[in-house]
Amino acid sequence: MRQSFLTVIVLAILGFSCASAIKETDEEQFISNLLSKMTLEEKIGQLHQITSQWEMTGPAPATGSAQYYLEHLKTGKVGSMLNVTGAAATLKAQKLVVENSRLGIPLIFGYDVIHGYQTMFPVPLGEAASWNPELLKLSASIAAKESAAAGLHWTFAPMMDVGRDPRWGRVMEGAGEDPYLATVLSVARVEGFQGDDLNNDLTIAACAKHFAGYAFVEAGRDYNITTINDKTLHNVVLPPFKAAAEAGALTFMNAFNTIQGLPATANTYIQRDLLKDKWDFDGFIVSDWNSIGEMVAHGAAEDLKRAAELAINAGSDMDMEGNAYIAHLKQLVEDGKVDEKLIDDAVKRVLRAKYRLGLFEDPYRYSDSTREKSIINAPENHEAARKVARESMVLLKNEGSLLPIKSDIKSIAVIGPLADDKDTPLGNWRAKAIKGSAVSLLEGVKAAVGDQIDISYAKGCDLTTSAGTFFTELEFINNDKSGFAKAIATAKKADLVLLAIGENCHQSGEGRSQTDISLKGVQMELFNEIIKVNPNVAVILMNGRPMIINEIAEKAPAILETWFGGSQTGHAIADVVFGKYNPSGKLPMTFPRSVGQIPIYYNNMNTGRPGPNEDVFWSHYTDEKNSPLYPFGYGLSYTTFSYGDLKVDKVSEQEVSVEVTVTNTGSLAGEEVAQLYIRDKVATLVRPLKELKGFQKVMLETGASQKISFTLTEKDLGYYNNQGKWVVEAGEFDIMVGGSSETTLKETISLSFEKGI
Ligand code: BGC
Repeated sequence: MRQSFLTVIVLAILGFSCASAIKETDEEQFISNLLSKMTLEEKIGQLHQITSQWEMTGPAPATGSAQYYLEHLKTGKVGSMLNVTGAAATLKAQKLVVENSRLGIPLIFGYDVIHGYQTMFPVPLGEAASWNPELLKLSASIAAKESAAAGLHWTFAPMMDVGRDPRWGRVMEGAGEDPYLATVLSVARVEGFQGDDLNNDLTIAACAKHFAGYAFVEAGRDYNITTINDKTLHNVVLPPFKAAAEAGALTFMNAFNTIQGLPATANTYIQRDLLKDKWDFDGFIVSDWNSIGEMVAHGAAEDLKRAAELAINAGSDMDMEGNAYIAHLKQLVEDGKVDEKLIDDAVKRVLRAKYRLGLFEDPYRYSDSTREKSIINAPENHEAARKVARESMVLLKNEGSLLPIKSDIKSIAVIGPLADDKDTPLGNWRAKAIKGSAVSLLEGVKAAVGDQIDISYAKGCDLTTSAGTFFTELEFINNDKSGFAKAIATAKKADLVLLAIGENCHQSGEGRSQTDISLKGVQMELFNEIIKVNPNVAVILMNGRPMIINEIAEKAPAILETWFGGSQTGHAIADVVFGKYNPSGKLPMTFPRSVGQIPIYYNNMNTGRPGPNEDVFWSHYTDEKNSPLYPFGYGLSYTTFSYGDLKVDKVSEQEVSVEVTVTNTGSLAGEEVAQLYIRDKVATLVRPLKELKGFQKVMLETGASQKISFTLTEKDLGYYNNQGKWVVEAGEFDIMVGGSSETTLKETISLSFEKGI
């Protein structure tokens, strides 16, 4: 802990009751000492988290007036608040607690800083498409800086739920469908938020969420139950969380869903046995918003009291907005249903986090209005947002090299419901983004061309009847085509059309599950009308999830997936379409051909009847292909790359070296993400046809080649069995390298190493 003599003096003058303890240098000693002074009520208070009443991110709390909460704050019955933001507000709330409660234990302020605080970065799924951990680290570090400057200590991010179902609106918050990619990128985010030192005014605590299995909600319907077998749990769902614990994520959040019938919040196995014991996690677990209370609706607890008992015994340390612990824990201890030792352990975890954040040293350290003004929205934050946004974009199609826009183009029509939208690019879970503050596509294009090219604009249609909010359902209109005529006339006159279509910013996110993930409203009709009059259409997609775009993929010569790109969207798209930046993004999630294929993901297992056969008796659909529209790992560049000289050698029986040469065979410099996949051909529990085990992003000049090396060790060659034990089986492994999960460049190697069998 950083010691500040001045702080100690100041706190002593203020009568700050923890001041004497500040002299303690040893973290555990400090915590134990403080704990020993606490009454049971005060301990329970540390496990109680409430939302501010002026901003909420979940259903309104059922009980309690403002006065009731105020009293709780003053008497040490609250350990944390969420949704209090800004240096002034956090200072006020902190003072209320520190100056009035007996022990003056500071609050920890949490907030959903998912892809930026006020400078918005692309939604996490978009950032994941960059396959660039350094970039994600950068964006998380800037989000942390801005949040910390606004008095926050803790973000409820990263979400590391590996998701295979684009109907689930929350895939926008994650890193996609692959556990390896999600692991690497989630760790980068944790490191970005937390930096090297949590006790630094520019970093905040991360929260690995949702522990665990939330992305597997059945049929993609949010908050639904999940069906996850043990193999999937251990090999797909848990790995990013394990890595986050190892990377030092200070907190975890559990989940709304049940796993094998047991709510995650009451799951002792994952919370205590795995996370706290096996993985040595010494931070704390916060419940999801009232996930303790929701166990009653699940039918896992008869009332809130029983829910509190189940949750604390299973290892859920802090109760977010459930009011279960504050209402019932004391009685449960007195009734002998909960051992006070468990409460002590939970409280120590919370105090430890506060200690590491330096809050006992100075509870007000983050709440500084001058600092807040200089950090939030600083120009360098926006420069970084532009860089991250353009590197997140994925070029899905580019027939006849329509993009980058050629120098002989004299006029461009910027068309579509999202073409001049300054709000949608900010996406959902937008923290304190200022409404309408994004650079729109039209603005970005105009700024890029000056008066060199004639730019015209027509909206064509609206996406929804209203802009929508975080809380409300969206209404989609299907019939207003009054803007079509102008859009068609505008397209007709131009050399090239940029058509911006996709989703409303609140169409993906929490509570935004959809059965139909094609383009809503009259967008497809608009597309068809435009392309009839001008075939040079580059579709600019803005969305938070994979969408079904078969007809566009068939007819449009160019498609650029830009996700919800954040504050600098328009400039970042302009950088890409005018060739200032050569796109390098690769899909972190499969794009299906139809909803009926979902869940569709690249790392599936073979069946006993993989086919294709001449008869119908093989694993397929009679009305749809098995293959996706665009596979995981796919993305084009303005140049082309070839892969060759694949060399796979044994370093030992449990270590394999892989070498491949990547060459830029096109006429522009560009970056390529070389992806390494393996297949364990025969195993006791069948293994996926392909599993990502490494990737490297390289920059190559025209004609340049680069040798890329990977090393596979036993941690890449094995898998978790149904008991969660790591197993490596001898035998043949296919080793594949290429620019997408559909690569066919392959070598096979035989290994005799075995473990855990
Ligand atoms: C979400 C969490 C979020 C929490 C607090 C919940 O509804 O599931 O991801 O962190 O609200 O806003």
